[in-house]
Amino acid sequence: MRRILSTSLLRHFRPFGRNSPSRIDLTVGERSAFLLHFCIKTTSDRSNMDLSNMRKKYREDDECFEESQLVSLDPIKQFGNWLDEATKCPKIEEANAMCIATATKDGRPSARMVLLKGYNNEGFRFFTNYESRKGTELESNPYACLVFYWEPLNKQIRIEGSVERIPHQSSCEYFHSRPKSSQIGAVVSLQSTPIPNRDYLRKKNAELEEKYKDTEVPMPDYWGGYVVKPYSIEFWQGQTNRLHDRIIFSKMKDGEKLGEFQHEAEGGWVYQRLSP
Ligand SMILES: Cc1cc2nc3c(=O)[nH]c(=O)nc-3n(C[C@H](O)[C@H](O)[C@H](O)COP(=O)(O)O)c2cc1C
Repeated sequence: MRRILSTSLLRHFRPFGRNSPSRIDLTVGERSAFLLHFCIKTTSDRSNMDLSNMRKKYREDDECFEESQLVSLDPIKQFGNWLDEATKCPKIEEANAMCIATATKDGRPSARMVLLKGYNNEGFRFFTNYESRKGTELESNPYACLVFYWEPLNKQIRIEGSVERIPHQSSCEYFHSRPKSSQIGAVVSLQSTPIPNRDYLRKKNAELEEKYKDTEVPMPDYWGGYVVKPYSIEFWQGQTNRLHDRIIFSKMKDGEKLGEFQHEAEGGWVYQRLSP
């Protein structure tokens, strides 16, 4: 039992990087020492951890991301290509999960994960509660930054843009396409407001399940979609030697001239390489 436990613990902690001991190359003594170290660190020292050895290999120079590898000079198509790769990667379970950062009007940021539910030339759509923290921030400061990180691919995409609510009808259509339990969940949750305990949610959920047993759940006014209309999209790919690849597309402003290292792209976009 102890051996199984230690083996699985070690496997779990392989992401600690090159310095983490593997099952194959450890003696029993070394393994015990590692576990002892791990136990001390995790049980008694969690408020003060040194993570300076947590490091992962990314890609080697022959797998770098060059401008010639862009599948399109339209960054939305390039995004689609990377999302497609992430979706097909068996190690990635939710390729459409993204971090969205918003900020209050006076510039205090906040960030959280949401799911991308669609994209096209207009922008990137997600759904939420308009009265949540992010919703309130977006109403007073309609700009957001989205970040996708697909760790097994060593790829990151950052999108910055202005944000607008999508038409009410489109939100309704999406709302009613969701499983009924999710629709009820959206009604139950006045997202980001304090509640007394979990039972409060259970009770409210049960009441609404009963109420809407035989009828459609009406979409609440406070729920719907946003579209992030991009003015900047950056493609990043990690290199082990930290000479990461960064290719950024920006929307040209009216009358703007190409900068020294900028190249014309498609659909009013330009692109350039950034230092990592
Ligand atoms: C993988 C993942 C996906 C999520 N997707 C959504 C989503 O699509 N919409 C949403 O409102 N919250 C989603 N959440 C919950 C949010 O991260 C967050 O807790 C919630 O929206 C409240 O955020 P706020 O108080 O900053 O507004 C998701 C969380 C995770 C971890």
